[in-house]
Amino acid sequence: MDNKRILVTSALPYANGAIHFGHLAGAYLPADMYARYQRLKGRDVLFVCGSDEHGVSILISARKEGVSPQDIIDRYHVLNMRAFDRIGMSFDNYSRTSLPVHHETAREWFVEFRDKGLLRQSIEKQLYDPEARMFLPDRFVIGTCPHCGYDRAYGDQCENCSKYYEQTELLKPKSLLSDAVPEIRDARHWHFPLGEYQERLEHYIEGHADEWKENVLQQVRSWLKSGLSDRPISRDMDWGIPVPGEEEAGKVIYVWFEAVLGYISSSKEWAERIGQPEKWKEYWCDEETRYVPFIGKDNIVFHCLMFPAMLMEKGGYVLPANVPANEFLNLEGKKFSKSTGWSIELNEFLDTYPADPLRYTLAMNMPETRDSDFFWKDFQARNNNELADILGNFVNRTVHFVHKHFDGVVPAADGLLPEDEAFLARFGEIAAQVSDCYERFRFRDAVTATMNLARAANKYFNDREPWKTIKSDRRHCANTMHCSLQALHALTVLIEPVLPFTAEKLRTLLNIDHASAGHWDAIVLHRLPAGHPVGERTILFEKIDDATMEKETAKLGVLSEGPEIVHPELKEQITIDDFMKIDLRIGNIIKAEAVPKSKKLLKLIVDIGFETRQLVAGIATTCVPEDLIGRQVVIVANLKPATLFGIESQGMILAASTEEEGPVLLAPVQAIREGAIVK
Ligand code: 2FM
Ligand code: ZN
Repeated sequence: MDNKRILVTSALPYANGAIHFGHLAGAYLPADMYARYQRLKGRDVLFVCGSDEHGVSILISARKEGVSPQDIIDRYHVLNMRAFDRIGMSFDNYSRTSLPVHHETAREWFVEFRDKGLLRQSIEKQLYDPEARMFLPDRFVIGTCPHCGYDRAYGDQCENCSKYYEQTELLKPKSLLSDAVPEIRDARHWHFPLGEYQERLEHYIEGHADEWKENVLQQVRSWLKSGLSDRPISRDMDWGIPVPGEEEAGKVIYVWFEAVLGYISSSKEWAERIGQPEKWKEYWCDEETRYVPFIGKDNIVFHCLMFPAMLMEKGGYVLPANVPANEFLNLEGKKFSKSTGWSIELNEFLDTYPADPLRYTLAMNMPETRDSDFFWKDFQARNNNELADILGNFVNRTVHFVHKHFDGVVPAADGLLPEDEAFLARFGEIAAQVSDCYERFRFRDAVTATMNLARAANKYFNDREPWKTIKSDRRHCANTMHCSLQALHALTVLIEPVLPFTAEKLRTLLNIDHASAGHWDAIVLHRLPAGHPVGERTILFEKIDDATMEKETAKLGVLSEGPEIVHPELKEQITIDDFMKIDLRIGNIIKAEAVPKSKKLLKLIVDIGFETRQLVAGIATTCVPEDLIGRQVVIVANLKPATLFGIESQGMILAASTEEEGPVLLAPVQAIREGAIVK
């Protein structure tokens, strides 16, 4: 991998909520570690990000909080920028999509595509709120479900019977914006012909198949297999980037089309800021750039298909060389959820704890190939048993000893023994391993290997027994301390990507600067000279006690503030006989796959003991098909079959959901034979 330049981007977070650990472990921490590592390798890195400030989610948050969308984005942009800074994200630029530079960029791309005749128009029936004077997004309209009669069904789906339908099929619709009865109007929309890039995208993706992560390839191939089709890129809303043109009043560019361009506008903003306005092109429009966007798994389709197709069409731009998307991080076994208080906000956390132990814990639990968890107990153990007891301990015992016996300066090496030479040689071996892991986006392994140097250093110190040799063989002891201090120097460089704040403290302790410790090669090549003074010992990692962790765990799920949760009204009372009419059975999922052209549905084959059933379930937004195989679930086995997207569904799978969360599948607490009756 010897590209001249490396362009790193992290998914632009929506400015409608505070960044939490899940976000951090997904798209931010790995990007930062990668960027820091590449800079240490001497590569020319540009690392940009920014707030995503358009789209329906901003409007919904504004409505929930009773403030304007501008208030929302201003609040969260500042809050998140501060959180990123405190956790050590080394962005070269953190922008926001409400800036003129971004509006101009998005307009330029849209207009160029439209003027060359690439974009298509189509007319669809959509609900229009005459009072709010806008077309209604699905979640802004409720009404009576055309299937089960539930009277608080949303524009796209009924939460009661889970069925999907067109907005215009909803009975007695009501706008959630104004309570007005919406009208059905023709809505004209612009579409990007993604289907036309099918072959080129297949070629592009397969060209990278050797390097890309399996979880990413699987998702992308499944989209490609279903066949790509036109994607709408305009919306009827008054929040966003207006579609240019006289006849386009009330339309904005769809947030996804413009958000990915936010990476380019953030780069332009950076170039402007450093006084070289054209410099962004060196990163975006030069074949020698390696572009790596970091994202969570929910953003794969846009970064692996849509954005590359846009870049291909525009021409002269680099395509992502790899998209190392992560899976999701959960919190103590459950999904992060702000509304239920099952979350830890970054700024709040950083008011109490330092950044590096969190970076380390998240890196060691990074959801690289499957979902993973943050546990407070694990955070405590990583901090106390690894950072404090291994790394912190080595640093302190070394500098303490050097102050006590060698006047606080690096002793000269004189006749190193093979054991000393072997230890020094370990630095290079470990650095090469760590390097290889970063190049291949294996962050957990990179950090494990990094800590192996601290482990090896403690072992070396123990084996060489300087507290004995100081009395018996001072030269031997001086050699041990000389090599131990070189290990401290090597560690200072090696830990920088994951523990940047600790690396800074070590530089101060060792009286060195970036000239000495700012390059990966310094791990092997740079040696602290004899006589170089080092500082006094200092506490690098404070231990965390059990009581503190218990308090933190107890806080989870307890809401401190935020909007009141509204529970849907209870349905009419039924008798046990009514309930017994429903035949619920335990089933085992033996096959699961996406339903072509549907974002929400999965097709499942479920073994219910005495037969297998084909089910179509609206769970694609929260479940990955491969993860479902072998899971026991509960199904309604005597439900009349229905056809969804042309596929017969022979029953229904039970799942729980709220307005913000789910659907979450229900499963037996202990395994039981398939076909067992649930009652
Ligand atoms: O999922 C999200 O949070 C989006 N705001 C990510 C956008 S990434 C890119 F397109 F900017
Ligand atoms: Zn319904």
